[in-house]
Amino acid sequence: MVIHLLFFASILVVAQSNNNSNATSATVHPLNTQPLSHGAGDTYIFNPQLPPRSLSSSKKFEGSSDLVSLRYHMGPVLSSPINIYLIWYGHWASSQQLLIKDFLLSISTFNHRGAPSPSVSDWWRTVSLYTDQTGANISRSILIAGEYSDHLYSHGTHLTRLSIQQVIGTAVKSKPFPVDHKNGIYLVLTATDVTVQDFCRAVCGFHYFTFPSMVGYTLPYAWVGNSGKQCPEVCAYPFAVPGYMGGGGPGALRPPNGDVGVDGMISVIGHELAELSSNPLVNAWYAGEDPTAPTEIGDLCEGLYGTGGGGGYIGQVTRDKGGRTYNLNGRRGRKFLVQWIWNPIVKACAGPNALD
Ligand SMILES: *[C@@H]1O[C@H](CO)[C@@H](O)[C@H](O)[C@H]1NC(C)=O
Ligand SMILES: *[C@@H]1O[C@H](CO)[C@@H](O)[C@H](O)[C@H]1NC(C)=O
Ligand SMILES: *[C@@H]1O[C@H](CO)[C@@H](O)[C@H](O)[C@H]1NC(C)=O
Repeated sequence: MVIHLLFFASILVVAQSNNNSNATSATVHPLNTQPLSHGAGDTYIFNPQLPPRSLSSSKKFEGSSDLVSLRYHMGPVLSSPINIYLIWYGHWASSQQLLIKDFLLSISTFNHRGAPSPSVSDWWRTVSLYTDQTGANISRSILIAGEYSDHLYSHGTHLTRLSIQQVIGTAVKSKPFPVDHKNGIYLVLTATDVTVQDFCRAVCGFHYFTFPSMVGYTLPYAWVGNSGKQCPEVCAYPFAVPGYMGGGGPGALRPPNGDVGVDGMISVIGHELAELSSNPLVNAWYAGEDPTAPTEIGDLCEGLYGTGGGGGYIGQVTRDKGGRTYNLNGRRGRKFLVQWIWNPIVKACAGPNALD
């Protein structure tokens, strides 16, 4: 789907049914469950087929990676250790904040006992395969360097793409929230009652960079909204699925942490962080000839979470005895379901839970 706005590139397009048959090489086992072989007693691997997202689907990448011409456009990637600054916009429960922070901190949790494989840090390894023109890889070190709570909705309960930059401007002007124009990225997370231009209709999140005229600096940032009340079947898919299948079709999957909106956001946050890191100024890694509507390393694998995905299947993921579905382990025993990322070496979508 092409988003027509000139300077809002790098958008997570909501409507895409991925049928990249070269994404994986294993056989698809429709709705088949098989016990995990290595002693994980109560968990199963399965590959559910779900109804498509409610918006019309794009067939851009159907069939073959021959169509994918991901290219490097000579700009920087985030090769220094990454400092994330979180802006919580609106009302957030601290349990929701902890869940999102556990996901972000899991990216740099390398200790196997801290997070067994397949882990979030294994997943980020695919992102770290991208380099800049000096050969420097994207950093595997990510820390939460600051948080700002805009619980009084300083710019109202409806945000536009430009007013999100004003939200960042307000946050960086407040002490002690710093402007980190060397290693900082800014992540604006909006609560369930905040509407955002194009949210649900065309996007679930996006990334870009701020304008000096708005914020005083050029800072890479991303926005992701909690879709829990507004459009979970679009942006928290597959934890909510469109209702038109009636009772006859397959149902939604149970989220790993029991929060449809926030568990759904986590895959979108992963998608945006991967793209922000590989294309922070929208002049590094993307496919397509149009830099105002680039197709980036997360877009290429949207909706794909495991081996055998595509054509309505999400790929082989794990389900525990409570029905919770996930594909990655994080710190503190957390589980997450996060989409795969395009691997530039094998030229296919990849993730650490691949079965082959
Ligand atoms: C997915 O792509 C393959 C190969 O192009 C094709 O055979 C298959 O029918 C497609 N499936 C769907 C659901 O479009
Ligand atoms: C995709 O897979 C098909 C069938 O295995 C193969 O013939 C084709 O060369 C592959 N395309 C790419 C780009 O790897
Ligand atoms: C850096 O990227 C190159 C090229 O993708 C890859 O071969 C190498 O393994 C990466 N190094 C690290 C430390 O990730």
